Amino acid sequence: MDRTTPSNPLQHLDQWDDFVASRYQEGRPESEFRKYDPAAQPGVADFYRLNHTHQTVAFVEQKKTEYVALHKGKKSIWEAAEFLNQLVDDSDPDTDVSQIEHLMQTSEAIRKDGHPRWFVLTGFLHDLGKVLCLYGEPQWAVVGDTFPVGCAYSDQIVYHEYFAANPDSKVPEYQTLYGIYEPNCGLDKVHMSWGHDEYIYHVVKDYLPEAAHYMLRYHSFYAAHRHGAYRHLMNQHDEEMFAWVRKFNPYDLYSKSADRPSLKELRPYYEDLVAEFFPSQIDW
Ligand SMILES: [Fe+2]
Ligand SMILES: [Fe+2]
Repeated sequence: MDRTTPSNPLQHLDQWDDFVASRYQEGRPESEFRKYDPAAQPGVADFYRLNHTHQTVAFVEQKKTEYVALHKGKKSIWEAAEFLNQLVDDSDPDTDVSQIEHLMQTSEAIRKDGHPRWFVLTGFLHDLGKVLCLYGEPQWAVVGDTFPVGCAYSDQIVYHEYFAANPDSKVPEYQTLYGIYEPNCGLDKVHMSWGHDEYIYHVVKDYLPEAAHYMLRYHSFYAAHRHGAYRHLMNQHDEEMFAWVRKFNPYDLYSKSADRPSLKELRPYYEDLVAEFFPSQIDW
C-alpha cells in the first residue's frame, strides 16, 4: 500500500454517499459520469484506490467466512441503529444528519409515496450494514460502489483505472468476461465486493420479501443498476428484480435534506413496523 495514503481517507463514511449523490445529480449528463478530478476530492480518490486495490476474490471469501454465519452477537434492529449512530461526523457536526436520520429520511420518503410497509422498512434498514466500520473494518471494506470479483472489471465502474493495482488483475482466470462464472448464472452465484450491502442482506434476509433482498444487496451496484453493466452474469429473474433496485435508488440518493426527521415523533411508527417483521433480537 502507498505509505502516503491513510487507511481511512474519507473524513467520514457519508463522504462516499455524498459523492455518489453528486455523480447522479438530477440533470447531470451521463457523458460526464467518469469525469472526476482526483485532485478535487483527494479523500474520495484515495478511498477508491484502496477499494479497487484490495477487494480481491480472496478478500471477499475471507470476509464471507468471517461474517455470513452471523457470529457477531444478537441485537435488536434498534440496538443496531443506535450502535451505528456512534459513527458521528466530526468534520461538520452542525449540518450533517445522524445515521438514524439518514435512514429515516429514506424510509419517510418511501412512506410518503405510499409504498408497502416492507418497502418502508427496507429503507430504514438499508445502511445498517455500515456497523462493519464499528467492527474495525476499513472504509473501503464497508462502503463504495460494489462490483463482481473474479471476472473482468467493467469500465462502467467509477475510477476503473485503479483496478490495475488489484492483484486479481494479474490472474488470467479472473480477467475474462465471465471469469469464474457461467454465462447468465445469476447474481446469487456471483461474489460481489465486500461491504455494507452484502452484510445487511445476510442479516435480514429471513424476515423480508425477495424484492427487499435485491434492494439491500445491490443498492451500491451502480455499474449494473444505473449503467446496465454485467447483464451477462444476470439471469432473467435478476433482470426482473432489478426493477426494485432501481425503484429504491432515488430514495437513497435524493432524500437527504436539511429537515431533520423527528425521531421522537416517528419512533412509535417504526417500533411497530420493526415488530411486524422482526423478532425482538436477531443475529448479526
Ligand atoms: Fe448504502
Ligand atoms: Fe444510504
